[in-house]
Amino acid sequence: MAYESMDELVDRYVPLVNSEIYNILRGAPEELYRASAHLIKAGGKRLRPLVVLATARALGSLEAESRALPLASAVEIFHNFTLVHDDIMDNDDFRRGVPTVHKVYGVPLAITAGDLMFSLSYVAILKSRETGLEDEYVVKAVRALTEASQKVAEGQGYDLLFERSWDVDAEDYLKMIYLKTGALIEASAKLGAIAARAKDEVIEAMGEYGRLVGLAFQIRDDILGTFGDPSKTGKPIYSDLRRGKKTILVIKVARSSESAKKLLMEIFSGKASEDKLSEAAELMKSLGVLEYAQKLAESYSQLAVEKLELLRGAGLVVDEKAYRALKDLALFSAQREK
Ligand code: IPE
Ligand code: IPE
Ligand code: MG
Ligand code: MG
Repeated sequence: MAYESMDELVDRYVPLVNSEIYNILRGAPEELYRASAHLIKAGGKRLRPLVVLATARALGSLEAESRALPLASAVEIFHNFTLVHDDIMDNDDFRRGVPTVHKVYGVPLAITAGDLMFSLSYVAILKSRETGLEDEYVVKAVRALTEASQKVAEGQGYDLLFERSWDVDAEDYLKMIYLKTGALIEASAKLGAIAARAKDEVIEAMGEYGRLVGLAFQIRDDILGTFGDPSKTGKPIYSDLRRGKKTILVIKVARSSESAKKLLMEIFSGKASEDKLSEAAELMKSLGVLEYAQKLAESYSQLAVEKLELLRGAGLVVDEKAYRALKDLALFSAQREK
């Protein structure tokens, strides 16, 4: 599948966002700032900034796009903060194809680097005043990031607590992934609309698009965590299974066969041999759970596309290329290999 509009805007936005981020990520102590820049320099898709900038441009054209640049940097810095802490929580050694921050700099400095990036994401939000964004909108931007920030922490809390529980159903899972992943993509779309000085109901409607993209994105992430290719994702596979994560795959497999649940329990206890991991993955395929999860991701991505079409039908879209990029992005979220 080709994502021409999305790829074109990614090519335009990545250098802009990177240089904005590098300007913000400067200071002393040097080693702390190096630890903070470690993952950002290793790459990443920069999808959240793309959502911010393309939303601003779709609703408010090029002027709004340039006002949105500090907001786009803010969400990427915030996202990287969550990744650094997430890799400590999940005990993962690789991300974006490089050793994780705590592996290189140790856990204490990685925690501090995360805290620093959390703070710098607000520094970036406040920088939007320099682009001519009025205080009224800056307050809305601060609120959008703050609400997401609280939700991400709650979602990460559920994610961790679910490791120790079997009393987790599909509804619990959807709530957890909305909080840990959907909320920041929701905030990204809202920030783009805020930079375009959109009305509150349009900001909310774009937020709904982001929420739906976020659900598709995380379901696909959970699929890639078991069926992805580490040379493409840059992340290890089977880490979720090793830690007892209650992904939709795990929840559905455990409910469809007693023996499958026994196998998962053995894996989660840490006593199973390596070949049990691929056996669990095979079961997910043969029981139709992989297909179920993929369809679920696609259904959210389709709803996100429909949300966009409604906004366009209401005459709110002023830039077709940015609109197509947002559509591509919704489709990409459910189909991506990385
Ligand atoms: C990883 O996000 C964490 C999730 C919310 C799934 P991305 O898949 O966007 O990671 P990068 O930024 O491209 O590395
Ligand atoms: C994604 O967590 C959400 C956040 C990082 C806040 P995961 O643990 O599911 O994501 P990956 O697979 O490590 O990127
Ligand atoms: Mg993780
Ligand atoms: Mg995690």
